[in-house]
Amino acid sequence: MIVGVPTETFPGEHRVALVPDTVHTLVDKGLEVAIETGAGAAAGFADDLYVSRGAQVVPAADLFERSQVVLQVRTFGANPHGAPALEYLRADHIVIGFADALDRSDRISALARRGVTLLSMELMPRISRAQSMDALSSMATIAGYKSVLMAAGLLPRMFPLLMTAAGTLTPAKVLVLGAGVAGLQAIATAKRLGASVSAYDARAAVKDQINSLGADFVDLGIDTGDSEDEGGYATAHDDTFYERQRSALATVIADADVVVSTAAIPGQPAPLLITRHAVESMKAGSVIIDLAAERGGNCEITEPGSDVELEGVTVCGPLNLPATIPAHASQMYAHNIATFLLHLVDDDGQLQLNVEDEITAGTLVARAGTIVHERVLQVQGPAN
Ligand code: NAI
Repeated sequence: MIVGVPTETFPGEHRVALVPDTVHTLVDKGLEVAIETGAGAAAGFADDLYVSRGAQVVPAADLFERSQVVLQVRTFGANPHGAPALEYLRADHIVIGFADALDRSDRISALARRGVTLLSMELMPRISRAQSMDALSSMATIAGYKSVLMAAGLLPRMFPLLMTAAGTLTPAKVLVLGAGVAGLQAIATAKRLGASVSAYDARAAVKDQINSLGADFVDLGIDTGDSEDEGGYATAHDDTFYERQRSALATVIADADVVVSTAAIPGQPAPLLITRHAVESMKAGSVIIDLAAERGGNCEITEPGSDVELEGVTVCGPLNLPATIPAHASQMYAHNIATFLLHLVDDDGQLQLNVEDEITAGTLVARAGTIVHERVLQVQGPAN
């Protein structure tokens, strides 16, 4: 079975679905790997490195023709610029990658109509058995780290406490809202840079994790009730709860030099935590990095994909931060996707889709011309 890796075509997407070391892992298991010429270049992986690890490097025109499995970071679902590749896709192709399957029903339908088997990385169940295949967590780790570096670069102050012959510099105060995977990595990174860090999450269960990283848990004194579902994700609350949250957070935000916000509820727009008024109350020069920008943002004035300034406060709504650290993002993603592929392959190197398996059933979106994933079908509605 030949596993093909095309060059990513989304603007600014510098990641690649396999890195040379993971090629070696797949080849060891009896799979053949074909990499499109130059596919790893933007992430720092030259063609000859892939060849040295057992891959064939093939021109774009041959990649889809020769492959049975196509591994991507962004499939057409998550990449509007991927439409031209649709015509190369055949009914016997198995496509694996991020697909935005719950949000891009139009593109998912187009992929399904090609007859391909589509497995979507963002739908990976959050179970222990699938941890090594969990690309969302890998990418959130990178985004959390990079968000703090962005803030440090923009802040007109340094992060650590410094006692110098020229006087004492007080540490920057960093507030992290939402302490999931990205938030915890943001806390750890800000601590390493010497900032004074505090963090808040609607799930009381994360208090110990925040404290174990050396940060203070912000207790807003609001009863969060049953804020966690069985998968460990936050559950949605009513408007009164969010209103109380915003008003209690305003004073904490006013005192921060940097806010990194990451709050999200799966399948829903991001909750609004930082009002325009809260931004105006911050000191000039302060920085907000809204990692929830992809889902609308946690801050009222966030413009996804842009930096805006209000009363001297910079509010950044970065999109696709993992692509800005492409070597490590690709390394982590490649590990996740290769582990997943090997999970689907039998001892003879043939793909077996066992829909009784929670990991396969949880990620299988389309097969034989039909969308087969229950949640995707629900968001598609009756017309599809
Ligand atoms: P996420 O990206 O969906 O959300 C980020 C954070 O925002 C979460 O911690 C959530 O509680 C918080 N949040 C939501 N609404 C909020 C509000 N109104 N105010 C403040 N905070 C709010 O979550 P992520 O990072 O993908 O993971 C969340 C949890 O999922 C983890 O902490 C863990 O328990 C579980 N998980 C389990 C994995 C596994 O393999 N078993 C892997 C990864 C995560």
